[in-house]
Amino acid sequence: MSVPISQVPAGPVPVPAELRPVLARWGAPPAVAAVPAVWVNAAGGTTFRLQRPGGALFCKWAPAGVGLDLAAEAVKARWAARWLPVPDVVETGAGVSGSWLLSRALPGRSAVDPDWLARPEVVVPSLGRALRRWHEELPVSGCPFDWSVPFRLRRAVRDVSGLREPPAVDRLVVCHGDACAPNTLLAEGTGEAVAWVDLSGVGVGDRWADIAVATMSLDWNYGPGWQEVFLAAYGVEPDPVRTAYYRALWDVGP
Ligand SMILES: Nc1ncnc2c1ncn2[C@@H]1O[C@H](COP(=O)(O)OP(=O)(O)O)[C@@H](O)[C@H]1O
Ligand SMILES: [Mg+2]
Repeated sequence: MSVPISQVPAGPVPVPAELRPVLARWGAPPAVAAVPAVWVNAAGGTTFRLQRPGGALFCKWAPAGVGLDLAAEAVKARWAARWLPVPDVVETGAGVSGSWLLSRALPGRSAVDPDWLARPEVVVPSLGRALRRWHEELPVSGCPFDWSVPFRLRRAVRDVSGLREPPAVDRLVVCHGDACAPNTLLAEGTGEAVAWVDLSGVGVGDRWADIAVATMSLDWNYGPGWQEVFLAAYGVEPDPVRTAYYRALWDVGP
C-alpha cells in the first residue's frame, strides 16, 4: 500500500493485543506492547520491527475488514523468492481483529530512509535500475498471479467509468504491483537495490503499470524533476499515454 500518507509513524504505535502473544512467541521482550512500529499505511496497517538475538523480524499487521490479504502476499513472496531477494516469510496468521505476516529482516534500508531522501541523485537512478531488474528476472511464463487490466478492473473499488480504453500492452512482465520508492531496499554505501518488499500486488501485467506508479511516487518522496532520470535508468522512453492510463487505473484501486 503506498499512497502519500503511508509513512514512518510520528509517534509510538501500540502493538495490537492479538499480536502480542505472536511476537512473544518469536522472542519479543516482556514489554511486547512497545515493539517499535516502522511504518503505517493508509489502510490502517502497521509494520513492526522485532529486534531479537536470532535476527530481527518484521511483522506486518492488517486490521480485519480493510481488504489487505497478508496470506496471499505470503504466497507471492514465497514464489518471488526463487528469483530475487524478498521477505523470507516465517509465519502468517489471522485472528478476530486482524492478520499478520512475519518475515526475516532483509539487508539494506528503504529508499525513503532519511539519508536516502537527501540523495535523490543516487537513489532515483538506482530505483530505475531496480525496477528493470525486477521485470527482467521474474518469469512471466509460469507466474500464477494476474495484474492485467481486466483483472484490476474487476477488483476496482472506485468508479471506473471515467477510464479510457486501455492502451495496447507494451511488454508483458511480472509486475511488482506497488513499485513505489519505500518498497525497494538499498545497500548501504552503493545505494544499489538489494531487496524488494510489499508483494501483495505481484502479477503479470504491462510493465507500464509499474513504471507509471514508480515515477508518480518519485514526486511524493523526492519532489518534482526526477521522473526522466528514473526512465533513463530503467532504459525506456517516456510514454505519456500509458503513464496516464495506469495512474488513473491505480487511482480506482491498485
Ligand atoms: N522483511 C523485511 N526486511 C526489511 N524491511 C522490511 C521487511 N518487511 C517490511 N520491511 C519494511 O517495512 C516497510 C513496510 O512494509 P511493507 O510490506 O511495504 O508494508 P505496507 O504494505 O504497509 O507498505 C517497508 O517499506 C520496509 O521498510
Ligand atoms: Mg510498502
